[in-house]
Amino acid sequence: MSDPYGDRGNKDLSIGNTKGQGTAQPVKQGGKSHASPGGPFLIGEAMTGGYGKGPDILHDCTIAVEKGEIAVIVGPNGAGKSTAMKAVFGMLEVRQGHVRLDGEDITKLSPQDRVAKGMGFVPQTSNIFTSMSVEENLEMGAFIRRDDFQDTMAQVYDLFPILKEKRYQAAGELSGGQRQQVAVGRALMTQPKVLMLDEPTAGVSPIVMDELFDRIIEVARTGIPILMVEQNARQALEIADKGYVLVQGRNAFTGTGKELLNDPEVRKSFLGG
Ligand SMILES: Nc1ncnc2c1ncn2[C@@H]1O[C@H](COP(=O)(O)OP(=O)(O)OP(=O)(O)O)[C@@H](O)[C@H]1O
Ligand SMILES: [Mg+2]
Repeated sequence: MSDPYGDRGNKDLSIGNTKGQGTAQPVKQGGKSHASPGGPFLIGEAMTGGYGKGPDILHDCTIAVEKGEIAVIVGPNGAGKSTAMKAVFGMLEVRQGHVRLDGEDITKLSPQDRVAKGMGFVPQTSNIFTSMSVEENLEMGAFIRRDDFQDTMAQVYDLFPILKEKRYQAAGELSGGQRQQVAVGRALMTQPKVLMLDEPTAGVSPIVMDELFDRIIEVARTGIPILMVEQNARQALEIADKGYVLVQGRNAFTGTGKELLNDPEVRKSFLGG
């Protein structure tokens, strides 16, 4: 497969992080920064907010991804990783802070409007229609399109050949790794400009995890920046250009993937030594 998602990115980009060595920076709280045009492609900046009228879960939390890059969010259970992703996608109110896509403030947009603007999101749970066939799931993904999406479907089948084989099977009958492929494929059907994945390798074996990471790198190489949450922190940081460690709704450490992997404190507290 040569050019699965069209001419929208630099396919020669090196996805692996080859930039900077050194020590990750603990994040100082309270500082205000403002995204400028030319800043990250997608940023949830200094987000504070929670669910409904409930307490704040996120506190001055920033996550972002640059064009051509993979950004990874790690942190303990309940740290607010999924909440931060949902905030960026417009599924909960950001009481303070902003979300910007390609320089445009989209903080007030609904999730549907964000999809129309080019955001693809694969949530952590309930990310496929289990009683529908694989192909119907992909068709559902294309719901906002008025044009012919057969080419995109062929590209998704190129990326995930097993889905083509199982296209008439109910998605609920597939293995965990295959279901995640359906979920990612569904998100790709909108031809997103940026892809957000919440724990795409949850519950799969290490071999399947490696395969999924390879496919994710392949998607990134087509020019779609990827912002993802991962519980396999070490492996994910290895493929990350940028990494965020969240703790209790706050940024604890931010750095390149390599910086975080090399940081003694990050290693001890979050990577098992
Ligand atoms: N729909 C919700 N309504 C109210 N509180 C919620 C909701 N979803 C999550 N929370 C709370 O927000 C906090 C952060 O949860 P979140 O799911 O964002 O963490 P996480 O880092 O994604 O954890 P995990 O690694 O288990 O996926 C938790 O205290 C959780 O109880
Ligand atoms: Mg989560």
